[in-house]
Amino acid sequence: MAVLKICTAGNPVLKQVAKPVEKIDKRLTRLLNNMVETMYAAEGVGLAAPQVGESRRVVVIDVGDGVVYEMINPVITKKEGTYLSTEGCLSVPEYSGEVERAAYVECEYTNRQGERMLVQARELLAVCIQHELDHLDGVLFIEKAKSLTVKKDTEE
Ligand code: CO
Repeated sequence: MAVLKICTAGNPVLKQVAKPVEKIDKRLTRLLNNMVETMYAAEGVGLAAPQVGESRRVVVIDVGDGVVYEMINPVITKKEGTYLSTEGCLSVPEYSGEVERAAYVECEYTNRQGERMLVQARELLAVCIQHELDHLDGVLFIEKAKSLTVKKDTEE
């Protein structure tokens, strides 16, 4: 496995609509492995393939409850309620911002075994799914944020 370079805002790959995955092959499983490793190395709770320069409909998520979601061709099939929270993004490291999302979502996706799955998610996981799926459509949270805050540089 390898830690991949994360693309930051201004890189055109982040503005593209990502292409659906057509087959689950070695290249895709390697991408999933590397995305999970990259997400953990960067201490993120989610990562979308365009963030590592791959314009494909793939995201990985781990909000810290011990479950790693590896989502291929994910689609949100139901949204309910509203939920305001503070988001950040590994591709926009200098800002955090308040974003209003649905409080509950249902999301269908294919796992690496090729099975179609359904996840029902609330609050943090729901926010994360919506944030990561936006990346697949070329949308960054800073475009949806009600307010943005410049993060203090805590490194060094
Ligand atoms: Co992001």
